[in-house]
Amino acid sequence: MKVVVIGAGVAGLGIAWRLARGGARVTVLERASVGAGATSASAGMIAAAAEMGHGDSPEAAFARRANGLWPDFAKELEAQSGVNIGYRRNGSLMVALRNEVRRHSHSAENPGAANLHAQGADITMLDGETARAKEPMLTGNVAGAIWAPHEALVDSQALCRALAVAFVRAGGELQSNETVVRIETDAGHATGVVTPFKTHKADAYVLAAGAWSSRIEGLPPEAVPPVIPIKGEILVLAQPAGARLPEHTVWGNEIYVTPRGNRLLVGATVERAGYDTSLSQDAQEWLRKQSNGLMPSLEEWEIAEHWAGLRPASPDGLPILGETAVKGLYVASGQYRNGILFAPAVAEVLSRLVLERTADVPAFSPLRFAGTKPDTVSVIETPHKGGEWRTGF
Ligand code: GLY
Repeated sequence: MKVVVIGAGVAGLGIAWRLARGGARVTVLERASVGAGATSASAGMIAAAAEMGHGDSPEAAFARRANGLWPDFAKELEAQSGVNIGYRRNGSLMVALRNEVRRHSHSAENPGAANLHAQGADITMLDGETARAKEPMLTGNVAGAIWAPHEALVDSQALCRALAVAFVRAGGELQSNETVVRIETDAGHATGVVTPFKTHKADAYVLAAGAWSSRIEGLPPEAVPPVIPIKGEILVLAQPAGARLPEHTVWGNEIYVTPRGNRLLVGATVERAGYDTSLSQDAQEWLRKQSNGLMPSLEEWEIAEHWAGLRPASPDGLPILGETAVKGLYVASGQYRNGILFAPAVAEVLSRLVLERTADVPAFSPLRFAGTKPDTVSVIETPHKGGEWRTGF
């Protein structure tokens, strides 16, 4: 079987690697470079509790499944690529500050402890003092925290490199700087993908182009995945000599901080800004203010890097995973804030669907949107432009 995958982010490469290992001849076409979209920009958190809303949602079930797959996925990937991806279960603290108004704290759906317990999440409630004993850099203003020991992280940039190496070693072909501009169809079937260089023909096509998944021409409206880009900016702080780096991922004061090497990532803004990835002073100041409020000694840490990426968001906030209204064309998109977390499960589900025709996440079917326009997404934006948390349309 021959398969063309569009997009060399964590979703596209993960699927392509699994397909190649399953015996398919696979070509990945990437408009820019490996991981150039949301994957490299992400903070790399595998946050099955911190990022999830309702415990009984299909998304939470998928998150638990993906979280369970991660240790073996990481081990196999490192063994096959020879690249260390920095996967480790460092645990998360979800912190409430004393004077914090009970409102959206770090995600659109703030998971309360009761909700997390209902999900069967392995969490413990900590008082402020115990939370500070775990993370001494925390402000004295901490009222309490939820401790989630099974939350993990990975270096998302190393992850991309590892996936690319493992995929090529498995016999795959990877073409960077080759943009798919059109998908050709005939009588409801996908028949080829067109780039400036040639038309690629295959038995199946997988559209995993992140926030760009709705921008490819040639498809009937009902087959276009209605995702839009949601911008996120991250600051990378350099650890000063003699300073201690936080060990865990800490969520609180409307942001998160997470260690990577000897640096600390502070993220992230949530903003509807089209395909603009410019870096803004507003975002930088807001992230600094919030991180100083969470860990006052961070005021002394210098900004080493500042970057922005675009998350792919769907109208109902759920991933889009499965065969489209055009036969032979599959989509893996709409992961929004959870592309890294979901990656092993996305790779498993999509590769099995293509190779074995077994579909097991009907709630994520692309068919549920039936031609919805890619501008009906609702998100809670961060107030870094001076406003309050608000729903963006
Ligand atoms: N998952 C973290 C973020 O989207 O900012």
